[in-house]
Amino acid sequence: MKETKKRILSGITPSGNALHIGNYFGAVKPQIELQNTHQTYYFVADLHALTTIHDREELERNITGVVLDYLALGLDSEKCVFFRQSTVPAHSQLAIVLANYISFGQMQRMHAFKDKLQKDTGVESINMGLFNYPLLMAADILLYKPFGVPVGDDQRQHVELARDIAEKFNKTYDQEVFPLPEPLISETVGRIVGTDGKRKMSKSLNNIIGIFEDETVIKKQIMDCFTDPNRQRATDPGKVEGNPIFIYHDLINDNHKEVAELKARYLQGKVGDVEVKEKLFLAHQRLFASARTRRQELVQNLTVVKKILAEGAEQACRLAKQTLAEVYQVIGEDNQLNKN
Ligand code: ADP
Ligand code: TRP
Repeated sequence: MKETKKRILSGITPSGNALHIGNYFGAVKPQIELQNTHQTYYFVADLHALTTIHDREELERNITGVVLDYLALGLDSEKCVFFRQSTVPAHSQLAIVLANYISFGQMQRMHAFKDKLQKDTGVESINMGLFNYPLLMAADILLYKPFGVPVGDDQRQHVELARDIAEKFNKTYDQEVFPLPEPLISETVGRIVGTDGKRKMSKSLNNIIGIFEDETVIKKQIMDCFTDPNRQRATDPGKVEGNPIFIYHDLINDNHKEVAELKARYLQGKVGDVEVKEKLFLAHQRLFASARTRRQELVQNLTVVKKILAEGAEQACRLAKQTLAEVYQVIGEDNQLNKN
């Protein structure tokens, strides 16, 4: 029964120690919904985190944080294979092979590398892990031959590269080894704006609303949020469309009547930003209350978490090894000297 469901694969880099609502609505929520209808494989991309984190304790904190966040937000280990990338060696092994089916020029055109090159002093300051990031990600994906990869919009180019590599590989050997994975990216929530109202919400831009931080932190993040810059007083009519505080209300607030009323009053200049923000804070508390409690329980119960990851790794290894063996066969690494 399970095997007839289409397969989905996704990962998340533990480059910070907590998820924000951009990650949640753009990636985590759609991923969690898919576990009911698909065969899902999700992993924490701990090797990818090495591009930026070279402090052991920080890495450990981040990996643990993201694992707990996912489980608290509803990832169900009965339905989904959940594991850490570094516990499945085939990811690294396949990346080494795939490097030979993509040009240096194409790798140089990848956004993460290009953006870093623009921001920093030059190639001397960019580690090869960052340059190779999309290659390892292609291996992460292709190893599981998934039908789709649910991610936020900023990962689109990476999934497209995985498709290009798969096509090149299949063509080289005239065999459909890798099905081409579909990027599954939401039109509406694939790119959630940050509290600065300008750029996408991202932990590195300091424009986030968290999920599991202390309530005082979350309240401050909400109260500091950018709204309508042209509105000076609460009595001025305000703009609702494109206003981040209302984008968040639409996502978070389960009381739709309240949201509609707030919007109507805002348009007429009959409500202040403070009230709109306080109501958003209360809605945030309602939405994430059970996840926050569950996370506290998990922190007290890391043996359960360890067991989930160990079982996930075992299942993931089984599938990953099969694909790697097939690839070795196709490319000719598996030959008369190691076959019986
Ligand atoms: P960050 O930009 O905060 O470092 P990551 O790059 O770790 O976030 O992203 C983790 C997942 O969340 C990815 O699938 C990414 O596409 C998605 N994501 C990140 N930021 C947003 C956002 N603002 N809106 C929608 N999805 C997002
Ligand atoms: N690059 C993704 C992020 O930053 C994480 C990731 C690594 C991933 N490998 C993947 C996502 C494979 C989907 C599929 O969050």
